[in-house]
Amino acid sequence: MFFFSRSSAKLVAPLGCLVSRQKHTLPDLPYDYAALEPHINAEIMQLHHSKHHATYVNNLNVVEEKYKEALAKGDVTAQVSLQPALKFNGGGHINHTIFWTNLSPNGGGEPKGELLEAIKRDFGSFANFKEKLTAASVGVQGSGWGWLGYNKEQGRLQIAACANQDPLQGTTGLIPLLGIDVWEHAYYLQYKNVRPDYLKAIWNVINWENVSSRYAACKK
Ligand SMILES: [Fe+2]
Repeated sequence: MFFFSRSSAKLVAPLGCLVSRQKHTLPDLPYDYAALEPHINAEIMQLHHSKHHATYVNNLNVVEEKYKEALAKGDVTAQVSLQPALKFNGGGHINHTIFWTNLSPNGGGEPKGELLEAIKRDFGSFANFKEKLTAASVGVQGSGWGWLGYNKEQGRLQIAACANQDPLQGTTGLIPLLGIDVWEHAYYLQYKNVRPDYLKAIWNVINWENVSSRYAACKK
């Protein structure tokens, strides 16, 4: 379960009843823009958070407003036509909200405890897991994400790659634990076209405490 910071506003619905409408807001980064240097530089972090993520949030609010109007009118055609934008901007908001907390200036190394045991059980070793998630992320064609997810039905960890801003859980059912953004906006200013170098560097700032607590929460 993920929580987004929201601010409340009251709107009068077309039918005249008062409903509570909550707009999505850009969550604060839990560290400074320069905190992940030298692995991810401040310019990337500032643009990525304050421009790219902010745009997904703004567009999601616009789409939700239009969707609400379409629902009120019973306009199914309009609802269907809004779904790609909902998936893209909603996914962009969900994915980046997870991503910021997956990273930390005090990150890197290896996970501990239950998560490490599960990684060893499902991938053989931490090194093998790291290699597989790196390969899946490097291999995304165009823009997308590499993920470590939890398959609740099977009780095991899985690696997945998603295109564009497709949200992991909404499109595969896997619960997202660790996401790696491989859109060019996440690395190009520092690593240019060499995505594998960005992938090498990002392991130094992975917040295993955050990933472990996500794993513990989704097993409850
Ligand atoms: Fe991104």
